[in-house]
Amino acid sequence: MANTHVIGISGSLRSESYNTALLRAAFERLPEGVTFEIANISDIALYNADDAVDGRPASVEALRTLVRSADGIVFASPEYNWSVTGAMKNAVDWLSLGPDSPLDFKPAAIAGAGGGSGTARSQEHLRDILAHNNLCIVADPQVMVSGARERFVAGELVDDDVRSELVSMLDRLLDVIERARSTERLALRGSILVVGSDEPRAGEAARSIVEMGHRTLRAIAAVDAVRILSRRAIAGVAVDGHLNKEAKQAVRAGADRLPFVEFDAATEAGRAIDAAIRFDMGSQ
Ligand SMILES: Cc1cc2nc3c(=O)[nH]c(=O)nc-3n(C[C@H](O)[C@H](O)[C@H](O)COP(=O)(O)O)c2cc1C
Repeated sequence: MANTHVIGISGSLRSESYNTALLRAAFERLPEGVTFEIANISDIALYNADDAVDGRPASVEALRTLVRSADGIVFASPEYNWSVTGAMKNAVDWLSLGPDSPLDFKPAAIAGAGGGSGTARSQEHLRDILAHNNLCIVADPQVMVSGARERFVAGELVDDDVRSELVSMLDRLLDVIERARSTERLALRGSILVVGSDEPRAGEAARSIVEMGHRTLRAIAAVDAVRILSRRAIAGVAVDGHLNKEAKQAVRAGADRLPFVEFDAATEAGRAIDAAIRFDMGSQ
């Protein structure tokens, strides 16, 4: 992985932040040729469209340049009121602006350290926010550090299990970077519809599709899927193979000639639908 630069963005501005410490720990054991930097978002003003009329503030432009030059981003945010911090959302909002947004198709991974749930809810929100911006977000592992106070001493991570999860997450991020380098970005006009009544399996499938840089919509039942297909812009359909035969047939009929896959292993749904869409585009 020569010449690979990854950056970290922490949602906490606190000098002794567990989340910033988590980023430092994530970057401790990078393979040779991979460098890192932790971005500073403490001087990013609250977004105000008036401030973007005659060019954006210098601090925002500097952050956009840093993100553009990075091959991948690790986001780590505390959970504030079940969501990401205002600082993190504000930075992403500034980064998302314009047709030249540096977030587009950017490989990324999400981690977080906090209270009892280990930032589970805020990570879900962050994944949605970033998926809207077409980042290719590592599906697994989702590094969720609960009881952060006990896992850091003087700004150092002291939990080997978390450390090995971070190593797996970084490995996977480097794989996603490698794929992004060798794959043409697909500009889809709609989302991928994931249909499945088993919440964990459908969630896993959706994460694997987001890892390919696509947006997703979810439907639990065939009737919801058919309604979504008739009303929303859908670029492809991934149906859980565990659904009953009638439900699968109903979705298939509603999907008309859209790229369509039935997944057995939820983790493979992303690759399968991406390949089906590319095949469909090639054959048109
Ligand atoms: C306004 C506010 C809301 C919070 N809401 C939550 C929450 O919903 N869930 C949670 O686990 N922790 C919550 N916390 C606690 C933070 O997650 C905790 O302070 C965390 O360690 C901060 O991360 P940091 O060390 O990176 O700054 C909240 C803290 C603040 C200041």
